[in-house]
Amino acid sequence: MLQGTFDKEQRSSGQTIISCSGEDMDKLVIEGGVPLTGGIDISGSKNAALPILFACILLSKPFTVTNVPNLRDIHTTIKLLNMLGCTCTYSEHCVQVEPGDLLPEAPYDLVRTMRASVLCLGPLLARIGRARVALPGGCAIGARPVDQHLKGLELMGASFQLEEGYIIGRCRRLKGTHITFDMPTVGGTENLLMAASLAEGETVLKNAAREPEIVDLANFLRTCGAKIEGHGTSVIHIQGVTSLSDGQYAVMPDRIEAGTFMVAAGITGGELLLHNCPFQELESVVRKLNSMGMEINETPEGVLARCAVPLRGTDVKTQPYPGFPTDMQAQIMALMCLADGASVVEESIFENRFMHVLELMRMGAQIKVSGHTAMVRGVQKLTGAPVMASDLRASASLVLAGLAAQGVTEVRRIYHLDRGYEHIEHKLTAVGARIQRVQE
Ligand code: UD1
Repeated sequence: MLQGTFDKEQRSSGQTIISCSGEDMDKLVIEGGVPLTGGIDISGSKNAALPILFACILLSKPFTVTNVPNLRDIHTTIKLLNMLGCTCTYSEHCVQVEPGDLLPEAPYDLVRTMRASVLCLGPLLARIGRARVALPGGCAIGARPVDQHLKGLELMGASFQLEEGYIIGRCRRLKGTHITFDMPTVGGTENLLMAASLAEGETVLKNAAREPEIVDLANFLRTCGAKIEGHGTSVIHIQGVTSLSDGQYAVMPDRIEAGTFMVAAGITGGELLLHNCPFQELESVVRKLNSMGMEINETPEGVLARCAVPLRGTDVKTQPYPGFPTDMQAQIMALMCLADGASVVEESIFENRFMHVLELMRMGAQIKVSGHTAMVRGVQKLTGAPVMASDLRASASLVLAGLAAQGVTEVRRIYHLDRGYEHIEHKLTAVGARIQRVQE
């Protein structure tokens, strides 16, 4: 498909999903100023479901993955898995995977729309000893290299060459070894964890990322018979096995979606009850929102988020888990725009993740960026404006700002949002927001 085109696909669930980037783009029209109240169900985690689906390449028996969110990235992954030779079907948040004869090729047309496609590299090498995967290239939030994925797989015995924009990998059976990452990388840890599950002998991953989604992937692999210890810490031990078995696994709930709705409660002065919310995994986010004046408590019905006092500014530095997640940086910045006093945001994970700033400023926010740091001065009000989403979490930040702003905000290019938030406008409408998807 040409860059700049766009299509809508009718899914097996009968729901329509926006499926590609392009000119014919939907926008969200938001009339701000309504305090949101009510309950919201948190969907399955996108960032946990993606590696789990790629891990299905490792399986030689059928498997069912449940609580899979109905998102564009998930459908891209299913499309890619089908091209690679697995038979995957999606219905009602459930993916059935039937293993088949695998092919090694992940084409650029799919990889460029979803960087996580590179997660098929480790499983393909482990399963068939061959992979031809398009090099993902840069994206809106930075260069995002995959050198750590390749270095780890090389240490396990794979060899790589780059041909016509494709990483071509080959190996005999991968061999367990000790791998120390230069930095905690989520995707790198996941790729190596999957590859090591079918490798010969023991692999030890050091300076591994500790994100809850990695723990979920490890738990999925353990359900299939993989021997993994230490997931959730920075040293993971994997004892390779020769095959993985069938079964069923439910994906964890999405902590970033939940965190975004917590901010929605705070920014609109409302009260939201989040069902199926991964509270523990949001500790750093909850701590920051508390310091801004929000009350967030676990109740038997769910997590209750509200704000009864004027918001106060705070300082945030993004860090690998258990630090404050980069995927919540843009959303908390929207909240800071309307908090009393100054706030400072330091982005330490990605080099180019302040693209929401100029758009928030078009709505009246006062923000100054210097390198990796943004200084936010709270204002009394934001005003609705047409704004442009540049990436997934930046889009969420603009929606949040629009929910609080006076007047009408139009958030354009929301195909980014459709990659990571399931039916966001339906969920927000159900708690009182005046928000509509409009086709341009
Ligand atoms: C994942 C998440 C993304 C989140 C990010 C950080 C998924 C599908 N995506 O992305 O939403 O924002 O974690 O929490 O789960 N790096 C290298 N070389 C590598 C790999 C990474 O230099 O080989 C650098 C990256 O450029 C970045 C940092 O390491 O600066 C962290 O990246 P990483 O944790 O790998 O992020 P992703 O897995 O791409």
